[in-house]
Amino acid sequence: MSEKTSQKIFLNDRLVDKDQAVVSVYDHGLLYGDGIFEGIRIYSSRVFRNQDHIDRLYEGALAIRLEIPLSPEEMTAAVEKTVAANNIVDGYVRLIVTRGAGSLGLDIRRTSNPQVIIIADTISLYPEELYETGMKIITASTIRNHPSALSPRVKSLNYLNNILAKIEGTDAGTLEALMMNHKGEVAECTGDNIFIVKNGVLKTPPRDAGILEGITRKVVIELATEAGIDVREEAMVRHDIYTADECFLTGSAAEVIPVVDLDGRKIGTGTPGEITKKLRKRFQEYVREA
Ligand SMILES: Cc1ncc(COP(=O)(O)O)c(C=O)c1O
Repeated sequence: MSEKTSQKIFLNDRLVDKDQAVVSVYDHGLLYGDGIFEGIRIYSSRVFRNQDHIDRLYEGALAIRLEIPLSPEEMTAAVEKTVAANNIVDGYVRLIVTRGAGSLGLDIRRTSNPQVIIIADTISLYPEELYETGMKIITASTIRNHPSALSPRVKSLNYLNNILAKIEGTDAGTLEALMMNHKGEVAECTGDNIFIVKNGVLKTPPRDAGILEGITRKVVIELATEAGIDVREEAMVRHDIYTADECFLTGSAAEVIPVVDLDGRKIGTGTPGEITKKLRKRFQEYVREA
């Protein structure tokens, strides 16, 4: 999008100018973080893995008992329409569904009209050179949501604990931070899933480590499996990362980014590993394949 002033936002049932895209200050998305969202990549004007994002969105809605006013098919069409209206060739979609405006209380029966917001824009999460050199991360003391409190599988508008962990990273001079789960195992980073390579085996924490089941994570598992790499979803602790040969993160915004240092300790050689580089390259090809 060259001119921001002409940006169109999808709001509920139509495209409106950015300035007209407003929701109530009584919206429970704002008041309580009551809602869900998705971050989706656009590659070569196509919505990447749209069905996976739609599935996760509607499952999240079910989990928090939010009735999305559009059908999955209507939502898919709305995303495509927003991308086209903003001439996005390579970019990012932020899809948000809030509980809607209500009274000043938690009761969802006193809310009405969940709000659907779709923003299509460009994105660049990390500096380009970090994809070549690898990035440094630290372990945050803030843990990921306890699954019995709020399932990390729901991509909810409640990101406060991840934000607190991210602040710890920022304070330590890193752009991402590793979050443990309530059992002291590795969960994921504040906005990315984590993988390690040890003796040629690709490993990532399983769903029950309390993670968001990332769509990029799923794609990387598929691509690695196709490439004949042994992939295992298994519980890990920080020791496994300190002693790994390679490490990388995945996310819709981050794509595949190497990690070369955790808590000031070099991982492997301290440079992006061969399997990481291979998977990153394969991922970059795959996203643009028809
Ligand atoms: C906490 C968290 N974990 C992992 C991911 C990566 O998920 P995906 O690959 O679906 O973007 C995200 C990004 O949305 C996230 O916020």
